[in-house]
Amino acid sequence: MEVVIAPPGELARLAADAVERLVRANPEAVLGLATGSSPLVVYDELVRRHKEGLSFARARAYMLDEYVGLAADHPERYRNVIEKEFASRVDLAPGAVQGPDGLAADLQAACAAYEASITDAGGVDLQILGIGTDGHIAFNEPGSSLASRTRIKTLTKQTREDNARFFGGSVDDVPRHCLTQGLATIMSARHLVLLASGRAKAEAVHQLVEGPISAMWPATIMQLHPHATVLVDDAAASRLQ
Ligand code: F6R
Repeated sequence: MEVVIAPPGELARLAADAVERLVRANPEAVLGLATGSSPLVVYDELVRRHKEGLSFARARAYMLDEYVGLAADHPERYRNVIEKEFASRVDLAPGAVQGPDGLAADLQAACAAYEASITDAGGVDLQILGIGTDGHIAFNEPGSSLASRTRIKTLTKQTREDNARFFGGSVDDVPRHCLTQGLATIMSARHLVLLASGRAKAEAVHQLVEGPISAMWPATIMQLHPHATVLVDDAAASRLQ
């Protein structure tokens, strides 16, 4: 695992460099997109590069997770967030971005179909990740199976409190369930690029980099990945030895 400690603006550039290298080498690359606040600076940087000629026209993308039950037009539905923050600002083709269907009548079937779709696409080349204060990646909360695949999960109280800021500060408005790629799904991506900034992430980053591999800190599975890049600012790195 490669750990880079740098100022926030530099972290976005480093992540965007990895995406740009990939897309220039393979225009049909399959990207893995995260939501939450951490990747927004990366999307902004990629949009800037798109304006200077970087094209995503032949690329495809898979999202990490989705809330269950948020209305199709809800602004915090992850599909809408990705559309607003990234897809609509670059030249990704219509339908190029796939996400788990949190409105499916049969959620289990939707999860299985999503796994099959990622496999059919040849797998994810580069997965962008954030990390929760409790060490989750995607919505694999503490206790998640290290061998998990896309499935329905219940969000922890901590994650719902952390995400209340996207729902006008109201924890009650944060959905209780989500569909999420599993840890084994994420580990199948060929390159993992995780971003973390701020002191609130310091304990999770400490566990991720220096803790024992444990389902109680799900991100620790990344220690086993052959190509994982962890990009952190000083505050997020403040508990590293
Ligand atoms: C979102 C996701 C989550 C977030 C994590 C950190 O798609 O998968 O794991 O990456 O909750 O969120 P932020 O970046 O908002 O601190």
